[in-house]
Amino acid sequence: RDTTVGIIGGGPAGLLLARLLHRAAVDCVVLESRDRAYVEQRQRAGILEQGTTDVLRACGAGERLDREGLVHEGIELRFDRRSHRLDFPALTDGRRVTVYAQTEVVKDLIALQLAEGPPLLFGARALAVTGADTDRPRVHYAHDGREHTLACAYVVGCDGFHGVARQAIPESARRTFTRRYPYSWLGVLAEVPPSCDELVYAHSDRGFALLSMRTPTVSRLYLQVPNDTDPADWPDERIWDELQARAAVDTVPWKPARGPLTAKAVLPLRSSVTEPMRWGRILLAGDAAHIVPPTGAKGLNLAVADVTVLARALTHRHRTGSAELLDAYSATCLRRVWRAEHFSHFMTTALHTDPEQSPFDTRLQLSQLDRIAGSWHAAAELAENYTGLPLY
Ligand code: FAD
Ligand code: DHB
Repeated sequence: RDTTVGIIGGGPAGLLLARLLHRAAVDCVVLESRDRAYVEQRQRAGILEQGTTDVLRACGAGERLDREGLVHEGIELRFDRRSHRLDFPALTDGRRVTVYAQTEVVKDLIALQLAEGPPLLFGARALAVTGADTDRPRVHYAHDGREHTLACAYVVGCDGFHGVARQAIPESARRTFTRRYPYSWLGVLAEVPPSCDELVYAHSDRGFALLSMRTPTVSRLYLQVPNDTDPADWPDERIWDELQARAAVDTVPWKPARGPLTAKAVLPLRSSVTEPMRWGRILLAGDAAHIVPPTGAKGLNLAVADVTVLARALTHRHRTGSAELLDAYSATCLRRVWRAEHFSHFMTTALHTDPEQSPFDTRLQLSQLDRIAGSWHAAAELAENYTGLPLY
């Protein structure tokens, strides 16, 4: 089998890239190792930058997003038992974010692709990429119990952090920068309307908490927990008690409305960037190239930014024969990636409690948060990064 662009991975990066290429009449094939139901149910991100929603709309994937997405004009920071709201449009010249779950983005893109093409193969696991330094790289993959080969002009690794595409770049030609954090998140879905109108990021002496939402009737909640925490140690009532204690403020009596919890899972926090994002005819996009800790809500948005740049570059190459934009791909993306890495690291370390941190460190955190609450400039810096820098 032959194609122009072989895409490994049918997460948001792979699916959106396929959609953008299809609209530009560049042919491609998507190989996804899991089945459709698994990919559509996997609980992950929930916040879309304005640039992300613009891209989804422009490629025809915005209909349900416009109907069901919840537009948010700010977030609330809670620290020192008080609350401060950041007004995004006022701080950023009109930018907003949208609450629309990654599961829904993925469902919308899969439905479009199955209806209109290009080919999307579920249960197709890439085993290796060979010939990245030739003009006919190949993806070797397992499907229906047999091994197959997909010969391509370009291969794009959208196969996430644990994917195989990265390994097609020789070790001597790539460098990975990483950072681990001494805490994880316990995330749950709750069958109860959100207790606040906007997202709440809470710093407390008991650790970080995040109150988010999926729909007007479903809440999404996170608690900082020690690494290697067993979710079984967190029965529902303990989770609610802890959320209530960490997000409490002195100014208003506040309690989260409680409801049944589902999808209880612990996720580690990690920063990682692999450079370069292109070597020969293999290109990396999304989590395959970089991971951010989730506190800045950047992971999914970065994946969308990567493939937007990449679709433009591949289309340019297809139409004009010029590889100029492809040659610039890695440097163009890495600039935004490192900005998001910095912001995500900043949000994470400003709001979480390191088990080793001293009372001095805590005072510095509170001073930083107080500065954001008291200065338009400090607040605008956060708001501009959170709502997303312009897409190039
Ligand atoms: P992925 O979504 O990981 O997609 C990769 C796809 O490739 C998957 O479908 C996988 O099955 C497939 N694949 C892997 N290997 C192969 C192979 N060998 N062959 C074929 N297919 C393969 N971000 C936030 O902003 N907020 C959050 O709350 C948040 N929570 C997260 C929770 C978890 C547990 C994880 C892992 C990530 C979370 N993220 C969050 C990050 C965000 O979800 C990712 O940045 C986003 O999914 C990136 O999209 P992607 O398409 O690059 O990668
Ligand atoms: C969600 C996740 C995040 O990491 C974040 O910063 C905000 C919201 C969410 O899943 O809703």
